[in-house]
Amino acid sequence: MAKPKVYVTRPLPGNALNELKKYCDVEMQEEDRVATREEIKEGIKGKDALLCLLTDKVDAELLDINKNIKIVANYAVGFDNIDIPAATQRKVLITNTPGVLTETVADLAMGLMVAAARRVVEADKFTRECKYDGWGPSMFLGQDVYGKTLGIVGLGRIGKAVAVRAEKGFGMKILYNDPRQDLEFEKEFNAKFVDIETLLKQSDFISIHVPLLPQTKHMFSEKQFGMMKRSAILINTSRGAIVDQTALGKALKDKTIYAAALDVYEDEPKCPVELIPLPNVIIVPHIASASIETRAKMADLAVQSILDFFNKKTPQNVVNKELLTNG
Ligand code: DGY
Repeated sequence: MAKPKVYVTRPLPGNALNELKKYCDVEMQEEDRVATREEIKEGIKGKDALLCLLTDKVDAELLDINKNIKIVANYAVGFDNIDIPAATQRKVLITNTPGVLTETVADLAMGLMVAAARRVVEADKFTRECKYDGWGPSMFLGQDVYGKTLGIVGLGRIGKAVAVRAEKGFGMKILYNDPRQDLEFEKEFNAKFVDIETLLKQSDFISIHVPLLPQTKHMFSEKQFGMMKRSAILINTSRGAIVDQTALGKALKDKTIYAAALDVYEDEPKCPVELIPLPNVIIVPHIASASIETRAKMADLAVQSILDFFNKKTPQNVVNKELLTNG
């Protein structure tokens, strides 16, 4: 039997692509950069599957170029780069890579929290500029993290993993907001389920863990910053567009809130010019899942989805599950 044909939009860390090549005919955009739309359009011609990244837009136009594409394995847990209804309508199975990156992303969320509260990046820059001329009691005063109140917006896997670190390691009080209340979680972490307004008003730190959906776009804007404490610190390791960047820039500049630490920002990778001059924001380039181990595991999962699919097994992480029940 002919091997399935797969297009991969960029080289991935680890050994997974070698595994894929054993069982499939693989064509890849070989350079370590985002594939252009034209390259993807061309690349998927004659293929049965696509392995893509969160930087690749998969929409109706793309899927209509090759109606033989049966599965798209997205190398990410978030799948806002994919038009799911369009894929489902065309019976294209979409998979993602949840689970394996949970702890890695939660580690970075905590790291950003501490770094923003204690002004680590500002202080590092100061030292590198050889400005340090002796210890001083008022140098780089920041905020304590230990014992403060953390508001978690979106209590999925990553939100919970952040709560574990915050409550067990930093003695933080946990508030959370999510469409669903989780009584077991509340008991274990002494956490409180609150409406978003209460969370905004009472939290010292707010960590965002909701997916980007039409209803979460700009969920944090001028009104929300206005409700937050002046000492509040916002952490975003989810998706940039959940935060209205213009409003955030203004809130940071006016000191409406104390600081922000962002793994993601709007219109990545375009330089966030409104944020760059501000000392009270830390911005890193979408690296929350970027550990050697995790990025390899994400590749394993994405590849396994494709292999399972062509072996007539149900892939582990199907996004549009309705396709499984409807044949
Ligand atoms: C994801 O997988 O969605 C993350 O944003 C990658 O870091």
